Amino acid sequence: MRYDIKDIKLAKKGALRIEWAGSNMPVLNLIKDRFQAQKPLKGLKIACCLHVTTETAVLADVLKSGGADVYLCASNPLSTQDDVAASLVKDLKIGVFAIKGEDTKTYYAHVKSVLDPKPDITMDDGADLVSSIHRLPLKDHANIIGGTEETTTGVIRLRALAQEGKLRYPIIAVNDAQTKHLFDNRYGTGQSTLDGIIRSTNKLIAGSNLVVCGYGWCGKGAAMRAKGMGAKVTVVEVDPLRALEATMDGFGVMPIREAARIGDIFITVTGDINVIRKEHFPLMKDGVIVANSGHFNVEIDIPGLEDIKKSKRLTRDFVEEYTLKNGRKIYLLGQGRLINLAAAEGHPASVMDMSFANQALSAEYMVNNYRGLSKQVYVVPEKIDKDISRLKLKSLGIKIDTLTAEQKKYLASWEMGT
Ligand code: ADE
Repeated sequence: MRYDIKDIKLAKKGALRIEWAGSNMPVLNLIKDRFQAQKPLKGLKIACCLHVTTETAVLADVLKSGGADVYLCASNPLSTQDDVAASLVKDLKIGVFAIKGEDTKTYYAHVKSVLDPKPDITMDDGADLVSSIHRLPLKDHANIIGGTEETTTGVIRLRALAQEGKLRYPIIAVNDAQTKHLFDNRYGTGQSTLDGIIRSTNKLIAGSNLVVCGYGWCGKGAAMRAKGMGAKVTVVEVDPLRALEATMDGFGVMPIREAARIGDIFITVTGDINVIRKEHFPLMKDGVIVANSGHFNVEIDIPGLEDIKKSKRLTRDFVEEYTLKNGRKIYLLGQGRLINLAAAEGHPASVMDMSFANQALSAEYMVNNYRGLSKQVYVVPEKIDKDISRLKLKSLGIKIDTLTAEQKKYLASWEMGT
């Protein structure tokens, strides 16, 4: 079996942590039971490019239980949990190619390694796997029937590919399922981003001026959680509707040029490039923390920061101190990579339960339906979304009402008014 990981001896610790995550993923466990009995993925090879975490390990186990051969590489050079990678190889016999802190060359060599077995399905987080495939000759991946995509950034890239008529096979946008983005992006990113900032800096959030750039679902989550911990939150947005929403949610809203002067802690979660730029750093107060929780490390203009620095040193794990020519210090976290996975453990298992239930059921859907799909980006079928929310509620012991016959009739009618 081929694999490339840091140290197989870490497997025991990884196995215990995977077990812990699994005990918080009831929906995925139910899917595993069914997959074990029905083997809907029998004989298929699935190439996964996902953050190598305990939660991903639970998903990989489910896919394997469904009959698939699973190959896994990281979707970010800093997000791999090496103990998890070791347990996946040793205990689950899954070919993992991922080492925390790998350089870009190794990262892409690992992406190539999961493509070597000629997968039938791709499971991506950020679209590095799919974009790598699209740089290969068609004949090199002729047997791919479809894929899934986990995150907002990946879906944006894939829609751009589809728009240009260049997408080579159908992909299901798991991110766009309600049971994904409403929970994972909002509550997952909200909690894990602050977790990453706190673990790496041990800074007090209460009373701080915290600037959140981007008020999508992830930004909403980060702003909400920071407020809950006592921060004075300011939101930076380009979209008028979202800016209005942030205002009425009780946050200050202003351009980054103004926010740069008041923030103590900055978080970028826009999915776009150069949100905090070279010209903004000299405006910042001495000692500010700058962190990113968007998928790629492009939201903070690190080359710009490098240009204007006088010196730089690592002061704590994941904390780089940049001293500017004006004498002020800026602390960049996790090399501008997603701080929730670089310095913490990513989203808690309880939300990843729903995200990865969408992944497993979308893979099954793809197997059953790919012949009727075109080379487009598809949303997760509503039935899957509804089934997952029902199962999640059940696992939480929460019952809900059903419409009475009278209510159903009322909702289907127009006659009754004032
Ligand atoms: N993305 C964010 N958090 C994650 C986690 N815990 N596992 C896998 N992917 C993630």
